[in-house]
Amino acid sequence: MQGFVARKALEAISPYVAGKPIEETAREYGLDPARIVKLASNENPLGMSPGAKNAAMQALVNGTRYPDGAAQVVREAAAVFAGVSPDEVIVGNGSDEILGLIARTVLAPGDRCVYSQYSFSVYELSAQECAAQCVEVPAKDFHVDLDGLLAATDVNTRLIYITNPNNPTGLPLEPAALFNFLERVPEKCVVVLDEAYTDFMDEKLRTDSFAWVKKFPNLLVTRTFSKAYGLAGLRAGFGVANKELIEMMNRIRPPFNMNSAAQAAAVAALEDQAFLKTVVDSNTKERARLAAFFDELGLDQLPSQANFIMVRVGPKAAEINEAMLRRGVILRPLKSYGLPEYMRISVGSREENDIFMKAFREALSVK
Ligand SMILES: Cc1ncc(COP(=O)(O)O)c(C=O)c1O
Repeated sequence: MQGFVARKALEAISPYVAGKPIEETAREYGLDPARIVKLASNENPLGMSPGAKNAAMQALVNGTRYPDGAAQVVREAAAVFAGVSPDEVIVGNGSDEILGLIARTVLAPGDRCVYSQYSFSVYELSAQECAAQCVEVPAKDFHVDLDGLLAATDVNTRLIYITNPNNPTGLPLEPAALFNFLERVPEKCVVVLDEAYTDFMDEKLRTDSFAWVKKFPNLLVTRTFSKAYGLAGLRAGFGVANKELIEMMNRIRPPFNMNSAAQAAAVAALEDQAFLKTVVDSNTKERARLAAFFDELGLDQLPSQANFIMVRVGPKAAEINEAMLRRGVILRPLKSYGLPEYMRISVGSREENDIFMKAFREALSVK
């Protein structure tokens, strides 16, 4: 390599693998992009609330001005939503950014970062960037092993990432078990509770995680506007934690990290809880329909509490994926998670799911 010297820690990093974009698929397979169904990135098939869209458009008119670097309106709205104060809220250019910021806040080279097998790949990437030691704890029959995470947590462990419900498995954590886990984590170790998909869970499984922040000064809860609120392309997320931790993270948060359109849309999205309910109800209904379909096909699946389902399609997963792409349906193969026989299928709208099911029956019989 010539001309520059990259940090050694970066050598171990393999870049994030995103869902295949619609335009790319259209080009490669000679398809009309308007007819492609993308069920690969857990996006919202119902879009965003009309209020959020309108607010974003209005913000564009003022796009010449820098956004409010403190994102005051978003932090205030999120604080009301979470029942905390605005200085206990941090905003991110997507929650991804917050997952990275916390790593850079607490992980020095050589410190340990612990997370479960089958976790969101950004956790490992964020820790690797800090030259931390990544400790992946084997899952137990696909479930996060909370005792295993604790056993892997030593005096040098500064960060644990947990997702509830988890991506890509869709499996939830039991609220009492999670609380009990938090009580046992050493104080010097920050726990990130990533709740990107929490809106899709059954009410009885939801945790009182924002209230837990008052009890656990080492807890950071992250939320995204990308999934249930439908703002994935605008990039908006927030985190809630003890104000000292938030203040530390804010020291390295890039100025103006949440753009004006994202700020305006995020506030309007939080206000429109009726739209959120429509989204969640549709997801619950359609997820059940997809689950029944996979049962009918005799495929193993995990009982999902999110807006996707992880399904075992078998050793021909790559061929089936290819056959689906030819039919204009983009799914998420899970080879990069060490699950070469599995795919993750996002729950679409009723119409999208109909198209998916028809194509999937055909693709399974092609082989
Ligand atoms: C578990 C989990 N956390 C966080 C994110 C990041 O979402 P965003 O950066 O769009 O807020 C995702 C996105 O796929 C996710 O699956």
